[in-house]
Amino acid sequence: MELFEKNDSRTHYCGTLTTEDIGKRACVLGWVQKQRDLGSLIFIDLRDRSGIVQLAFDENTEKEIFDKAFTVRAEFVLCAKGVVRERATKNKNIPTGDIEIVVDELKILNKAQTPPFEIVEGSQANAEIRMKHRYLDLRRPDMQRNIIARSKITNLTRNYFNDNGFIDIETPNLIRPTPEGARDYLVPSRVHKGNFYALPQSPQIYKQLLMYSGFDRYIQIARCFRDEDLRADRQPEFTQIDMEISFTTEDEIIALNEGFLAYVFKHFMGKELKTPFPRMTWQEAMERYGSDKPDVRFGFELTNISDIVANTEFKVFAGAVGAGGSVRAINVKGGAKFSRKEIDALTEKAKHYHAKGLAWLKNTNGEISSSYAKFLTEDENKAINERMGLENGDLLLVVADKNKVVFDTLGALRCECAKKLGLTDPFDFKFLWVTEFPLFEYSEEDGRYYAMHHPFTAPMAEDYHLIDTDPGRVRARAYDIVLNGTELGGGSIRINTTEMQEHMFQVLGISKEDANEKFGFLLEAFKYGVPPHGGLAFGLDRLVTLLLGKEDIREVIAFPKAQNASEIMSKCPSYANPADLEELGIAIIPQDE
Ligand code: AMO
Ligand code: AMP
Repeated sequence: MELFEKNDSRTHYCGTLTTEDIGKRACVLGWVQKQRDLGSLIFIDLRDRSGIVQLAFDENTEKEIFDKAFTVRAEFVLCAKGVVRERATKNKNIPTGDIEIVVDELKILNKAQTPPFEIVEGSQANAEIRMKHRYLDLRRPDMQRNIIARSKITNLTRNYFNDNGFIDIETPNLIRPTPEGARDYLVPSRVHKGNFYALPQSPQIYKQLLMYSGFDRYIQIARCFRDEDLRADRQPEFTQIDMEISFTTEDEIIALNEGFLAYVFKHFMGKELKTPFPRMTWQEAMERYGSDKPDVRFGFELTNISDIVANTEFKVFAGAVGAGGSVRAINVKGGAKFSRKEIDALTEKAKHYHAKGLAWLKNTNGEISSSYAKFLTEDENKAINERMGLENGDLLLVVADKNKVVFDTLGALRCECAKKLGLTDPFDFKFLWVTEFPLFEYSEEDGRYYAMHHPFTAPMAEDYHLIDTDPGRVRARAYDIVLNGTELGGGSIRINTTEMQEHMFQVLGISKEDANEKFGFLLEAFKYGVPPHGGLAFGLDRLVTLLLGKEDIREVIAFPKAQNASEIMSKCPSYANPADLEELGIAIIPQDE
């Protein structure tokens, strides 16, 4: 190993050298991608965050350097200096393929063991092994690009909000719980034994308090923590682009954030985004797409056929309508080509969403095959096919159940079918605002209402009179920004009077004492002049993931958690030292394994 010294500074990043540099001296620093020994010639591909450049050693190379180059292996760390020259045989596959560096000074700054997987673009190596050695996984060019792209998008975010008069303010991470609806991560207090901080699910309450303080326009790139079941688009800790403004309305917030997305598209992707984006009410989104985050890149919209089958002999359909549910269908254009096995897989998927079954009908060159047609009369079948616009090549999928099950199932199946049919180009960016969400969501399980967004969201003025008598019908001044079937962000206009906030807690079944215990400071603050305000938060991880055309947010997070919320590399969470626990006044209840 040789010492890195001050005159070893890099002159060029490997991937930036071009034919313009021919004849110039260059000093490059990085890792060995591979070494090829052709006897009298040695080539080394050297990699840094910008790409790869070829180092050449030949008969004119000093023996000591040539011999050193001979010992070099993958992932050794090198400092190489020499003159850039045109390559004899060009490599069209890499940007620097026209040139190479003829090395006349070489330092091995560090050696490396053979890595547990090859450091290459699009590695197919076992995901767990890659996560265990995340620092190596992050050396791969695609991961480097993702993380660098994230940094660019973060900077654009700061620029845009700064240009629009927003003030960047940090809020605490050790707080009282914020009610975003997930489980909290708790942090024990040593000083106040038996008491806990919560990690913020979002800076929600603090950003509202900053409005009360008169900061008027707030922005924070904020880390949020939620102890919930993980999915491809969910991590226990994630980052929000969190904003709030005073003296505002839905339209201003929506326009500002469309402006933000257009700015990012322009400066990150060089693409013009057409604004304003379409808006759709929550009710319409559910009816047409079975989802509050509809993917509008393709059709396959839901159609209600309950009226046609309300009185049919087929009990599966009539029964669902009779029980207050519905029968709805989608027409998957081009789906008739799905095999029996593929339809069985769709049925399994339907069951995952609690549907009791999936009824289907195929039209293959006028020939009908169906799981349900034989149970219906000719008229009933005809009416359904007509309403669904059945044509050659179509597949109808029908679900009969409670509305929630019908929406969830068909909402998911339409996306699944579109994916199978190749209709989900990740670079076909279709933005949509979903508005007028219900204020409350009823939980059958708990027999009570929950705030659909969070309990600080204001009801729509025209529905406020229903809040005691029919809370389920009250719509909220809430909006979500949806991109290609993913909820990218959400926000609302907030409550700003004590009366309304107390009323909200009451409908949510939070007693006065409880409200005072948990949110007394907020209710107290209401007494001193609270401006009208509202805001929104984007999931930064999701935004970057989608802009890069990826599916899993772990691809844009340097050190993400695995599916079971652990970090494989450092093996966290881990047991605590008994002495530390004692100091915190905590005893562990033994768990049966
Ligand atoms: P909400 O709970 O809708 O709103 O969160 C805003 C956005 O954060 C992202 N997000 C997540 N991303 C990754 N992993 C998670 N576990 C996760 N949970 C949420 C989503 C989501 O749209 N305080 C309010 C915002 C407001 O009212 O201003 C809030 O947190 O992209
Ligand atoms: P069965 O009478 O159970 O043999 O069902 C006949 C057809 O209806 C089968 O294709 C089932 O998959 C389908 N089916 C059963 N329950 C439902 C349901 N709730 N919604 C839609 N189709 C269903």
